[in-house]
Amino acid sequence: MNIIVSGLGAVGRAFIKLYLHQKIDATIVAVGDSTGFLAKEKGLSLEDLEMVISAKAQGKGLAEVFTIRKTNAKELIPELLPDVLIELTPTNFDSGEPSLSNILFALENNVHVVTSVKSHTKTQEDYLNVIDTAKKNNLCFFDDASVMGGVPITEALKGIGSDFIEVKGILNGSTNFVLSQMEEGMGFDEAVLLAREKGFLEKDAANDLEGHDPAGKLCNLANKMGFSLKKSDVVLEKYQDKLGILGVSKEKIDELKLYGKSVRLIALIKNNDGKVEASVGVKEIPSGHFLALTKGPLNALSMKLKANQTEYELFFQGPGAGGDVTATRVIAGLKRVLFR
Ligand SMILES: NC(=O)c1ccc[n+]([C@@H]2O[C@H](COP(=O)([O-])OP(=O)(O)OC[C@H]3O[C@@H](n4cnc5c(N)ncnc54)[C@H](OP(=O)(O)O)[C@@H]3O)[C@@H](O)[C@H]2O)c1
Repeated sequence: MNIIVSGLGAVGRAFIKLYLHQKIDATIVAVGDSTGFLAKEKGLSLEDLEMVISAKAQGKGLAEVFTIRKTNAKELIPELLPDVLIELTPTNFDSGEPSLSNILFALENNVHVVTSVKSHTKTQEDYLNVIDTAKKNNLCFFDDASVMGGVPITEALKGIGSDFIEVKGILNGSTNFVLSQMEEGMGFDEAVLLAREKGFLEKDAANDLEGHDPAGKLCNLANKMGFSLKKSDVVLEKYQDKLGILGVSKEKIDELKLYGKSVRLIALIKNNDGKVEASVGVKEIPSGHFLALTKGPLNALSMKLKANQTEYELFFQGPGAGGDVTATRVIAGLKRVLFR
């Protein structure tokens, strides 16, 4: 099986390292970044891939190190006829590009897609268009890596044979990091600055801080649970009159501590007899609660489920971001394509 890897950032580099380490039975015929693609019809060698990783780790563009093709994944597909496109380019919720058209082009041209990008969930229409194109052409489209980084949550959701009563969790590691730092004594601005320095916040920080990012992820999860949910259906709740975590002050956190409470940005889906209610907002919860104990950039999810008369809960927690952990789920997606 031949694959093209589009995007060589934190996830792309980690993906190639895992691919080499796990000796995945597939051939990488092209890898690309924003400067172009290094492509070889018979496959890139171990030496080629090691040089690519080393160049990217030094912050170089492929064009600085290799004689490359100034092209994109769409132009390479008809020429190299790969079996799988691994799409790991930046997320862009405005244009959806470059990933959205790469993904659709691949699926329209008999190529499976595995991705960690979130752009195709920018609207319900875009998401369904991608899913329908994959179904129509009998191809795999695995975007599990785009929600909860290293936690195999979407895979778990798809495998659950019970009814969902409620799913609630922390789907945004950057805001959880900010709240955790504030619990340790930092002010809001200082904690946001530290989150930015550590690379936890997206370029447009409002996307995280106001709760739009977890709202998008909630829709992706709901769709995988079999519900139809659009971003505009998710109620973005205000706390102290402000969206997301913008209304949380250190004073409020200190005051709540006296009552044994913490605040968390909670994404919630409730199933009211098949009618879904979804929201994202700051909630005051007991400090001993599973979600309050989820600290730093971690993500967590608890699910209330029902099988006949038995109600039960499942809990998931783990790293919601990071190149290595996210790449494990890209590898898992590729393996599912290989073993289909
Ligand atoms: N990092 C995480 O923890 C994480 C977790 C979940 C999901 N994701 C998603 O996964 C994707 C990749 O994340 P990342 O952290 O690896 O991002 P990143 O570090 O920003 O890397 C993006 C890569 O895409 C390349 N690129 C940009 N435009 C391109 C184009 N037109 N064709 C080919 N390559 C292009 C960039 O090239 P240059 O190197 O030349 O700039 C870079 O190598 C993003 O969509 C992100 O939202 C990331």
